[in-house]
Amino acid sequence: MRIRCAIVGGSGYTGGELLRILLAHQGAEVTVVTSRRFAGKGIGELFPYLQGLTEISFEDYSIDVIKRRAQVAFTAVPHQAAMPVVRELLDAGLKVIDLSADFRLRDPETYEAWYGEHSEKDIIKRAVYGLPEIYRGQIEGADLVANPGCYPTSSILPLFPLLKNGVVEPSGIVIDSKSGVSGAGRTSSMAFGFSEVNEGFKAYKVCEHRHTPEIEQELGVASKTRVTINFTPHLVPMTRGILTTSYSRLSKEVNTQEVVELLRDFYSQARFVRVLDPGHFPDCHFVRGSNFCDIGAKVCTRTNTLILVSAIDNLVKGASGQAVQNMNLMYGLPEEMGLTSPPLFP
Ligand SMILES: NC(=O)c1ccc[n+]([C@@H]2O[C@H](COP(=O)([O-])OP(=O)(O)OC[C@H]3O[C@@H](n4cnc5c(N)ncnc54)[C@H](OP(=O)(O)O)[C@@H]3O)[C@@H](O)[C@H]2O)c1
Repeated sequence: MRIRCAIVGGSGYTGGELLRILLAHQGAEVTVVTSRRFAGKGIGELFPYLQGLTEISFEDYSIDVIKRRAQVAFTAVPHQAAMPVVRELLDAGLKVIDLSADFRLRDPETYEAWYGEHSEKDIIKRAVYGLPEIYRGQIEGADLVANPGCYPTSSILPLFPLLKNGVVEPSGIVIDSKSGVSGAGRTSSMAFGFSEVNEGFKAYKVCEHRHTPEIEQELGVASKTRVTINFTPHLVPMTRGILTTSYSRLSKEVNTQEVVELLRDFYSQARFVRVLDPGHFPDCHFVRGSNFCDIGAKVCTRTNTLILVSAIDNLVKGASGQAVQNMNLMYGLPEEMGLTSPPLFP
């Protein structure tokens, strides 16, 4: 029996990516896809690349329909819109993988400081942070998984093992990320239109991006102390991909080879983390369309700094691929099921 999946908010980029992955997944089937604007339209009308691959159509959100037809729901709607839906789905007995930020922060006060009011505070503690390489065991037993943000995935995976092993100082970390435009979603504003973005390259939300507390939360888990970071996101004129570079001060004398070995050891069971040989650094080109996170490392002895570079596809490892990886774990399927196709290049 395949796992019956609902996608709530299926008309956006992450919804489309969930469909692309799940339609080829051997252990799952999509039984409901909701959209307020496109209810009644076929999937291929909105996602022409999926034409002929499914008979299903978008429907209005109905908890009764989802309860009848699905056992797990992916919520792919904006933050704040997700929280009441997640509550209703859990109450109806479904497992939920929420792609929004609504259940990622364990401290409700931190959520409210960065995002606004949280109406479902009592279920925050039920959520497991869905980074499988770190929380695999807890995800397996979860009924609510808070799928990590795209910038946080690309920032936490490289830094977590180094902080956990006391190789770098928990203070003074600088994280500099560049994202493709699909990170802003399909329904985004004028600022993300072609002529606004093409041939430009800019920083935005400097020192105030909402992913900051999420990254700090998880790096704090790794180092067992409060971590504050300087996080600067940038918008680059590409469709998919995030390249993240972090700079942290070394607290031990190590060389690049030793850092690479530590990362490889930490991620020895992690199918989707590829730690590159010394002297090699990731490129968004080589993870596109895949669930990989590629990591490169360099110890700069001149400045006593560890420089880590990572690349992910924001819509796959940064969102829908990771969500499917979480579903696989929640249902005891092989973690990589449906996620093994190689990156798309060129
Ligand atoms: N894009 C990324 O790289 C990325 C990465 C990680 C996480 N995420 C998160 O994943 C979620 C979806 O992102 P996305 O990029 O797919 O966004 P998107 O392309 O803008 O799509 C979001 C969908 O949610 C529905 N929606 C919007 N407002 C809603 C509301 N108030 N109530 C119910 N449904 C609503 C819309 O569908 P209808 O109007 O048709 O109903 C829309 O198609 C967001 O929380 C985002 O932060 C995105």
